[in-house]
Amino acid sequence: MSKSVELAGLIRAQAGQEPVKYGLILGSGLGHIAGAVDGVAIPYDKLAGFPHAGVSGHNPVLAVGNLEGQRVAVFGGRAHYYENGNPNEMRLPLEVLKALGAEAVILTNAAGSLRADMPTGSIMALSDHVNFSGLNPLIGEKTDARFVPMGDAHDPELRAKLRAAAEAEGVDLHEGVYAWYSGPSFETPAEIRAMRTLGVDATGMSTVPEVILARFLGLKTMAVSAITNMAAGMSDEAIGHEHTKAMAPLGAAKLEQVLRRMLRDAG
Ligand code: HPA
Repeated sequence: MSKSVELAGLIRAQAGQEPVKYGLILGSGLGHIAGAVDGVAIPYDKLAGFPHAGVSGHNPVLAVGNLEGQRVAVFGGRAHYYENGNPNEMRLPLEVLKALGAEAVILTNAAGSLRADMPTGSIMALSDHVNFSGLNPLIGEKTDARFVPMGDAHDPELRAKLRAAAEAEGVDLHEGVYAWYSGPSFETPAEIRAMRTLGVDATGMSTVPEVILARFLGLKTMAVSAITNMAAGMSDEAIGHEHTKAMAPLGAAKLEQVLRRMLRDAG
């Protein structure tokens, strides 16, 4: 039996047999949403092979149960490439999500804005991404399934539902292109200028490897950024992890409101 099927069995034994519809992977400062799930919360360290997800501001539990009438699996923390140089760290959690029956994964992250009209506290749905890192979690994958088309990676239908939920809640939702920067150092102002030339609207250190892995596994994806700062060189605002954690709740509150509405209306 594969590791993911084994873990899914262990999770079902605790959380019940009903298949999960959506997975949620939560970014810096957003981990508390895992606590809102009516169900069971399993610490990552009880799930053999799950990443350590030790970055402060994350909540490394897998919560499976009900959120706004939908059966969900919420990953309260993620592993990042910059923690140990492995872009494939989230593969097992995503495989487990697939084995639990999910059709889509919703990813959230904290990001820096490259747009003056998208200040700290904004939220942005990803219409597409730029893999600025050049890394890929599927390098080394042996089968032809590794040649994953990415044209529709950021699912337009899910995004339309998110947009409708934001409108219904009266929350301003931006849409734009996210770039994956490896981190853990932040970008230089020159790198931000380069990204702007490439058509990037927001930048962060996660999400893209997970989108690639999710598409490889046949999961739909939708991703949303909480803007925690203006990107390097764009303002006098501080840039740093403490600042990210301090500012994440601004966008996180909007994000939670819109995601809850989307789940409630999903039928
Ligand atoms: N750059 C990269 N990652 C980030 C940023 C940023 O400005 N803000 C939050 N995560």
